[in-house]
This record gives sequence, C-alpha cells and structure tokens, in this order.
Amino acid sequence: MRDKSILLIIGGGIAAYKTLELIRLLKKRGASVRVILTKGGAEFVTPLSVSTLAGDKTFTDLFDLDDEAKIGHIKLARDADLIVVAPATADLMAKMANGLANDLATTCLLAADCPVLIAPAMNPFMYEASATKRNRTQLFEDGVQFAGPANGDMACGEEGEGRMLEPVLILDKIDRLLNQKKIEGPKNLLLAGHSDSSRLEGRHVLVTAGPTHEPIDPVRYIANRSSGKQGYTIAIAARNLGATVTLVSGPTELKDPDGIHIVQVETARQMLEAAVGALPADIAICAAAVADWRVDQDHPEKIKKSASKPPSLGLVENPDILKTLSQKGPKRPQLVIGFAAETQDLVDNARKKLKAKGCDWIVANDVSPATGTFGGERNQVTVIIDEQVEKWPSLDKQKVAERLMGEVADTLSKNEQAAE
Ligand code: C5P
Repeated sequence: MRDKSILLIIGGGIAAYKTLELIRLLKKRGASVRVILTKGGAEFVTPLSVSTLAGDKTFTDLFDLDDEAKIGHIKLARDADLIVVAPATADLMAKMANGLANDLATTCLLAADCPVLIAPAMNPFMYEASATKRNRTQLFEDGVQFAGPANGDMACGEEGEGRMLEPVLILDKIDRLLNQKKIEGPKNLLLAGHSDSSRLEGRHVLVTAGPTHEPIDPVRYIANRSSGKQGYTIAIAARNLGATVTLVSGPTELKDPDGIHIVQVETARQMLEAAVGALPADIAICAAAVADWRVDQDHPEKIKKSASKPPSLGLVENPDILKTLSQKGPKRPQLVIGFAAETQDLVDNARKKLKAKGCDWIVANDVSPATGTFGGERNQVTVIIDEQVEKWPSLDKQKVAERLMGEVADTLSKNEQAAE
C-alpha cells in the first residue's frame, strides 16, 4: 500500500476505538492515512490519539479557514485513492444515501471520485430498521463497498448483526479494493467499475447454472425449482467484464446469452463431465442447483402403472461438481465459488459447506418459499470468504451478479499483485 492514500472517516460510535488499530495497520502497510474525525467520533477517540497514529493532523471542521486555505475539502477527497468510513453509523449512512453534506466528512464523501468503503457499526435493531435497510440498498446500488458488519455481542448489551468488522478484516477488504486493476469512482463505482469491459480480459470463467433433471424413465424425471437466472446473470456479468465464459446449463426457460459458450446438459453426471471438460478455467462459479440424487437403475422403458402398488425407487448420490472442481491439482481454478441455498441457519450451514466442499467462497441465500428467491427476480445473499461474512441487501439478481463479479475481479487483481 506504499503509494496509496487513504482518507479515513471516523464516525460517532463506540467502535471508533477499533479504528485506531486500523490506522496502525494501514500505516504499517505503508499507506498514507488522513483522518477526518466527525463530531460524534470525537466523543469516542481524541484528535491527539488519531494524529499520533496517523502521523498527520486530524481534520475535524468544514469551516476551518486554515485547512480550507491549505487543502480544502474537495482536494481532501480528491487526494484519496480510497475513502474508508469506520465506524459508519446509521446517521452517516443515511446522509450518504441521501447526498447530505453538512460537515467535513459528508462533504468529502459527496465530492469523492474514488471508491468508498464503509464499515457499518450500530445496534442490530438500528441495522435492521426499515430506514437503514433502504439506505443500505441505496448505497449498494450507488456502488459503495461494504466491510461487514459482523454478528456478535454489542457494547449496548444486545446481540446480533451490527458489530464493526475487526480491523484486520477491514484491512483485507481495503487491500482488495486498492488492488483493483483500475480504481474507478465515483458514486457509481458499481456501474463504472463493473461495466469496465476489460477487468477480466484473458480470463476463462466457468459457470454452472439451472437445475438438473434426473430421469426416472424416458418420460419422468426428478427436478427442482431453480430457474437458472442467477447463474445466467453471473455468466453475463463475467462476459461484460471481458472474460471468456463457458456456461454449463441444466434445462431452463432462459434464452442463450450472446457471446457465451453454452453447454446444455440434463443430468448431474453430464454437468460434471461438461464442467471438467471446460477446464482449465481461472474462476469457477457453481450456481447450479444440482440434484443430490438420481435413480439407481436405468429404466429404458416407461415404468407401467401397476394397480397393486406404486414402484419403489432406489436413489444414489450424484457426483459433487463443486467439490470436484475444488480439489487441489494443476487444473484447479484460482477461485472456486459455490452457492448454498438454505432454509435455516444460513451462515452456519454455509460455513460448513465452505469447508466440506473445499471451495474459496460461498454465496449463501435463503430459499425459503417466503423469500421468492427460486424463480424470482431478486436475491438476498450473504457472501462468506474465510472469516468474513458479508450480508448484502436484497438486490436484483443482475446486481448481485455484477457485484459478485466485481469482487472476483478485485480478488484476482490482489492475488496477482501479491504474486508479483
Ligand atoms: O450440497 P449443496 O447442494 O447444498 O451445495 C450447493 C453447492 O454445491 C452449489 O454451489 C451447487 O452448485 C454445488 N453442487 C454441485 N454438485 C452437486 C451438488 C451441489 O456442484 N452434486
């Protein structure tokens, strides 16, 4: 991070004390850090501790003539490669989502032309409040990046989602953002950054999508409710970033997307064969809802309806495509991403899946009928990368796909930089 400039905004929350550790970590990595301490933030940490760690003066007031003459709030924003808001309070998020600019922090945020990362921290009820939810969705759609929040005990004595992510994990996210091939601004980072048609140039992305159909006999089959929409939008988002895409698709109603190599399959075994046959790939994303089981015997003729009793069908397990692609070996894609469709204990089950399958990321989604995810246009996902759990707001599936592929591109850039 040696040549990177970070503008850190410390909001007014108890987690502000953790941000001091973040400043230390950033400085250790060689970044230059300028800090704006909001009025609320200054109730929790002092300008003196901030300046001591940052090695620079702490900015506090929009109307400080001296500062305005020397730097000015626009330049403060423009000098930054990345703006980090930690802790991002409900109030700061509301102001950002609505474009309010009545102090130095919010003025800089509005004037920013670089990516903005926020680390929300607030009481779980405040985080789940309808107004905050609306603001989160707006910020997501504006391209603001999120680090956390995490689940756990809160300083107020309650428990739930709203703890500020640990500084090391925020640092990791900063690292990924700074290593994007091209840092895009401003508000519409999502649109600007993610519509950049060369970020995945030269990469091969393999996507599995849709359900599989497991024949019982020539006319009947076992299936599931997957529409394939999420997988198809991911393939399209990867193509839009310049990747060469192979989409291995089970039976869906969807139109073949242009500019994508599509392999149509029916069964899990065919899907495995097509996916393995498409290797090598840089990235594999298994979004297909593969049938776990198939019938243990081939029935070349239609099973007759007998008057006495229904036939009994034996089942055998299908091969696990995600697990197979995740196996160590020369052909293992650099990044393997699985999905976890759950109806209960989403994060716990997804974490178990991450381990069991050996993949790198899991995108978990609640597919309880009430969510309307299966077959619907929207998806609310939680992305799990190692210890990081990022709950995204409910978004259009296309937005989920664009965001996901943006994160993928960031990660590949980071890996590349680390290897250099
Ligand atoms: O085990 P489960 O079906 O819940 O795991 C979901 C993830 O594993 C998804 O990414 C899905 O595409 C993948 N999967 C697979 N092959 C299977 C079963 C699941 O690739 N046979």
